[in-house]
Amino acid sequence: MDFRIPFNRPCLAGNEYKYIAEAITNGQASGDGPFTRRCHELLEREFQAPKVLLTTSCTHALEMAAILLNCGPDDEIIIPSFTFVSTANAFAIRGAGIVFADIRPDTLNLDERRLESFITKRTKAIVPVHYAGVACEMDTICDIARRHGVRVVEDNAHGLFARYKGKRTGTFGCLSAQSFHETKNISCGEGGALVVNDPNLAERAMIIREKGTNRSQFLRGQVDKYTWVDIGSSYLPSDLLAAFLLAQLESREEIQRKRRRVWEYYWRHLQGWAKEHNVGLPFVPSECEQSYHMFYLILPSLECRQALMAQLKERGILSVFHYVPLHLSAMGMKFGARECPVTENVSSRLLRLPFYNDLTDDEQGEIVAAITDFFGQKRVYTPGA
Ligand SMILES: Cc1ncc(COP(=O)(O)O)c(C=O)c1O
Repeated sequence: MDFRIPFNRPCLAGNEYKYIAEAITNGQASGDGPFTRRCHELLEREFQAPKVLLTTSCTHALEMAAILLNCGPDDEIIIPSFTFVSTANAFAIRGAGIVFADIRPDTLNLDERRLESFITKRTKAIVPVHYAGVACEMDTICDIARRHGVRVVEDNAHGLFARYKGKRTGTFGCLSAQSFHETKNISCGEGGALVVNDPNLAERAMIIREKGTNRSQFLRGQVDKYTWVDIGSSYLPSDLLAAFLLAQLESREEIQRKRRRVWEYYWRHLQGWAKEHNVGLPFVPSECEQSYHMFYLILPSLECRQALMAQLKERGILSVFHYVPLHLSAMGMKFGARECPVTENVSSRLLRLPFYNDLTDDEQGEIVAAITDFFGQKRVYTPGA
């Protein structure tokens, strides 16, 4: 079904066609060409990181992190249950045990207040997810990790350009994973990046990304032939994708300005209404600068959410729910029973509104009207009903 107002619409920044044409003319469509190098330089400056490596997805950046930390069957990884499959899968395919933790009811981020109770002798890493681009409580998470000798890998799929206490998300862990999937603020269709904050992991990261070979040392003239030196896979994207991505990255300020406008429109027009109707809206703690990745409602009940989604659909507007609790999924249950009541509760009530750079005031006006009309129909929704 076609929606007049889709949930996401890919938006071009301007130079995508020009850069892709240049990449074709350059004669290097394979990975690590001139556009990949320019993306790396730009991202290393932004993150102030010793090494950033483009990958084919955030999923693959997380898989690289699992290999870099030598995760295996003796290890446990703590992740929030309210996240995308890849946060868990990247470590599960190395054989690691996944420990699902619950989230905070305000930011919907990993609940750091209960985190320490999940740490065991087997814990290898904590993987916080900065949900909707609002940072987790990184001071507490990093302190717990340090005290227990556990690594932090940030899943920063939503959080590009967000900050916690003035510091970029994606720079707290030894590693962090970025997504450039079509639904993200900055996109090249499918893509990602591994941000390597621990310089000791940089050399091996390059090897793992290049099929376990020391090809990058060869290209730098450090060895006279390249060979198989470690496990790895093919995690580097074509330079054509990097060309697309560079055009978007160079327009990051304009893209972020547009997304901020969209977020603030929803906030301004729904804030008072939400209070009146017992509807939750995103919460951004004062120490966080968010990335303006998404806008959601937490409705009073599952029934209410489904009915609102159906009403929006009738008006040609696509709204979507989000993660289904991973600890209750067929695969997730293989890691043992877990209780994550906040995840379960939020997952059944959360609804994401259309959000893309070029969403217009008129379109947002229609969305807001459809929502407020729905509640004006005098249905009474009470929490848990
Ligand atoms: C929190 C989180 N992590 C990882 C991913 C996977 O990203 P990608 O599609 O780039 O592999 C997603 C996808 O939306 C996500 O929401």
